[in-house]
Amino acid sequence: MVACFPDQPAVAADNSDRAGFDEEMRGYKTTAASGAIAALDRQLEHGEVKLVHEKAHGYLLSLLRELKIPAASQLLVASKTSPNKAVISPKNPRALYFNDQVNIAYVPSADLIELAAADPELGVVFYTLDQKPVEKPRLVRDDRCLECHVSSKTLNIPGLMVRSFLTKDDGDVDVLSGLLVNHRTPLAERWGGYYVTGTHGRQAHRGNLFGPEAIARHEKDTSFNANITDLKTFLDVARYPEPGSDLVALMTLEHQAHAQNLLTRLHHDAVNALGTGESLRPAYPALEAALRYLLFVDEYGLASPVRGTSDFARQFEQQGPKDKQGRTLRQFDLKTRLFKFPCSYMIYSPTFEALPAPARKHFYRRLLDILDGEDPSPEFASLTPESRRAIREILVGTKLDLPADWRL
Ligand code: HEC
Repeated sequence: MVACFPDQPAVAADNSDRAGFDEEMRGYKTTAASGAIAALDRQLEHGEVKLVHEKAHGYLLSLLRELKIPAASQLLVASKTSPNKAVISPKNPRALYFNDQVNIAYVPSADLIELAAADPELGVVFYTLDQKPVEKPRLVRDDRCLECHVSSKTLNIPGLMVRSFLTKDDGDVDVLSGLLVNHRTPLAERWGGYYVTGTHGRQAHRGNLFGPEAIARHEKDTSFNANITDLKTFLDVARYPEPGSDLVALMTLEHQAHAQNLLTRLHHDAVNALGTGESLRPAYPALEAALRYLLFVDEYGLASPVRGTSDFARQFEQQGPKDKQGRTLRQFDLKTRLFKFPCSYMIYSPTFEALPAPARKHFYRRLLDILDGEDPSPEFASLTPESRRAIREILVGTKLDLPADWRL
């Protein structure tokens, strides 16, 4: 409908546009954060929770437990896209862990754990945790991270990104090769700089390739370092809580990071529109972009089934919420696409639920029009009648804030 909105930033050249952000979100740095990490830090401050320091991973396992982040979400990234870059390499990759609201980056032997939490008002807020054992460890907000985490790549709001880089032997990246990845990116362009464990048939990708020799071999033979289910020959996996870098977890993060950015952009545009005038109209482009993305319009289709190696998929599906028939938007497909029902679970996220009421209402109106077939735009043509019905039924069964006309 509205073509001008950059819901698909293509190439990740470093053309950041932070001036716009500073002007628009002057309150970001001075507003106290809410969100899961701010809540945990308050508990630490008041002594209600204690983080346990362990020899092997410092505070990591205790943090994962307190924040309810599954270790099975572990992803290993060798590219040096981090303040801890001096110690990151293909032999000592950075490990990422995530749930819907919090992302953690951990590097064995690094002084700091990096954290990012979705905040319904502010977008994503960044923190560090010092790995030195002390009586009262604290999660310290660190706005310096915005240097990279606000740019045109994150739609000019504080956000997350997943990138794919051609990576050198030491983990340095070829900056010009950088692509932003989300669920629309062809598999052949994804996963540069990442280890990937899982099976994916004959589909090619750029994971598990470090250094020009490996990249050149892969160019001749795309089965080179493909369908890897064990990383022992690449690195000492015993130094991480999990042995792998799960393919399904990685595809989920790729979907989620961009969804979070689109919802933050929408939140922000809606608050501005409603604050300066009475009309939501200036936020429509952001709303339509978020809607298309949450409905997986233009998702890259799988040519053969994929599978991960950890328990991530099972734990993710178990979270629900489920309708009476046991269906949930978290069910994976993994045969022709990522999820069974093409409507994102991010519709349950606090960022979505905290949208100004007129924006949520308009979103639900548009969504119902699309599911009912009232919007004939060709971009929604790929939603089958069965999918439309299932999505509507699941939402009616699991979402309490739907307008009454959904329930007919
Ligand atoms: C030099 C640029 C840069 C700086 C500075 C930076 N980051 Fe990042 N960060 C990135 C990039 C790029 C990624 C995406 C990883 C990838 O796919 O290569 C990332 C990923 C992450 C992730 C994993 C989730 C995700 O988006 O994939 C976390 C958590 C994170 N950063 C936290 C932080 C924190 C906390 C700070 C500040 C202490 C910080 N970052 C500073 C560039 C940076």
